[in-house]
Amino acid sequence: MLVAYFSCSGVTKKVSAALADSVGADLYEIAPREPYSAADLNWMDQKSRSTLEMNDPKARPAIAAAVPNMAEYDVVFVGFPIWWYVAPRIIETFLESYDFSGKIVVPFCTSGGSGLGGCDSKLHANCSTATAWRPGRL
Ligand SMILES: Cc1cc2nc3c(=O)[nH]c(=O)nc-3n(C[C@H](O)[C@H](O)[C@H](O)COP(=O)(O)O)c2cc1C
Repeated sequence: MLVAYFSCSGVTKKVSAALADSVGADLYEIAPREPYSAADLNWMDQKSRSTLEMNDPKARPAIAAAVPNMAEYDVVFVGFPIWWYVAPRIIETFLESYDFSGKIVVPFCTSGGSGLGGCDSKLHANCSTATAWRPGRL
């Protein structure tokens, strides 16, 4: 099992480490090639990087390093913070980067209060080859 996570302020990172520890999974950080600065994360700024990316359905921020051995995992947990009620675009980069055939994918999120909302079915479309898709909220 693999717990793959994206986290900018550490909340999802902490949850992911606890999850990996409790289920005995490997841990992998979906690290952006270009890290997000505090200014990039300012959702009050209409021109900030996160706002521009979330306004662009085609945005696919690059990931620093690939999972070296994805073929070895049967279950892949995918953790992320909710941005503007959905998953950050980099999660779409991640889901589109691998063949999830035969795997169970379990998305989970942290947020200030919002749930997975509409991004669950949307994300599933990004990795439609997965054998099973079991969303959960931590
Ligand atoms: C750009 C941006 C947009 C966000 N949008 C939402 C939102 O729509 N709903 C919500 O409840 N929280 C929102 N948040 C808060 C984060 O989801 C929350 O703080 C999360 O736990 C952060 O996880 P992290 O520390 O792993 O990055 C947003 C945060 C950022 C930076």
